Amino acid sequence: MESKEIKILVEAYGSLADLRAGDRALVQHAQKASEAAYAPYSRFRVGAAALLDNGEVVSANNQENAAYPSGLCAERTALFYAGAKFPDAAVKAIAIAAQTGGKFCPHAVYPCGACRQVMRECEKRGRQPIRVIMYGERRVEVVQSAIDLLPLSFDME
Ligand code: THU
Repeated sequence: MESKEIKILVEAYGSLADLRAGDRALVQHAQKASEAAYAPYSRFRVGAAALLDNGEVVSANNQENAAYPSGLCAERTALFYAGAKFPDAAVKAIAIAAQTGGKFCPHAVYPCGACRQVMRECEKRGRQPIRVIMYGERRVEVVQSAIDLLPLSFDME
């Protein structure tokens, strides 16, 4: 029997001010995007902002639907739009922020499993790690690569 132990490094920051300037700016794009979320069912407004290697920032938000599964998370909306608009650009980083009742969540907001799967494929497609910045008003968590959030992931190989 063989075994492997998987460890991930998660950086944690006490506030937005503690982040490096580029990451802070990306979180601010995600915060702004969350304001325009279409979330009449959950009232949980999520914003995501992706920084591309061509310098573009693509931001988006969750889009819900009365037929619930037809909606889409903020992260996938942003990543699919980035893929549609800039197919040759690699994603370098993505920031996520969410608010409900007019307040941003105090804890870091983690992406759902389906979004992690899409992030991971974007990362492989771009041949460089995607830093994931998960914002919370009292704690911001950062991983250096999408693979950290989805080890042992399924892929085309
Ligand atoms: N949501 C996201 O936008 N991103 C995630 O990673 C998890 C959940 C959205 C989906 C739905 O519109 C709302 O948050 C509540 O689940």
